[in-house]
Amino acid sequence: MSIHPIVKMGHPTLRKVASPVTPSDLDHPEMHTLIADMVETLHDAGGIGLAAPQIDRPIQLAIIEVPGGPSRYGDIEPIPLTVFFNPVLTVLDPAEAGYWEGCLSVPGLRGFVHRPQHVLVDYMDITGKPAALELKGFLATVVQHEFDHLAGKLYVDHIRDMTQLVFEDEWLAHQPKQ
Ligand code: NI
Repeated sequence: MSIHPIVKMGHPTLRKVASPVTPSDLDHPEMHTLIADMVETLHDAGGIGLAAPQIDRPIQLAIIEVPGGPSRYGDIEPIPLTVFFNPVLTVLDPAEAGYWEGCLSVPGLRGFVHRPQHVLVDYMDITGKPAALELKGFLATVVQHEFDHLAGKLYVDHIRDMTQLVFEDEWLAHQPKQ
């Protein structure tokens, strides 16, 4: 296993639509090495999600691992380490909420992004079988952020008020106490 460099905003792969993965692609050991490398890279970076284009592999693969528990986003449900291939998002309720999002490919910045808070994700799991996951609240935001990476999008594309794109250290120093 190895830790891969995470490419940053400005790298062309982050703006490409990623290619679908077929069940037979999972027969290749290289795919499982790639997943193990992504897990190691995510843990090294201390993030909650990583999409393959962020390590310059433009395929429809993302991993998410949310520890859950109390956080600045409230008391959140965990998502155990999950591998998503070819995810398709369906919005079940268009009502939106906003969160201060960050991204390993946009280091040092935070931006306030509104997204729908109740979604269904249909995807292929690590065994090549169809799977589905219904998510609400912050976790709905997390999957939309990650799967945007597979469509060549970044959270900054969704910021409606550019006064709400900030450096993380200033944001941490000046955000109102909750
Ligand atoms: Ni990201």
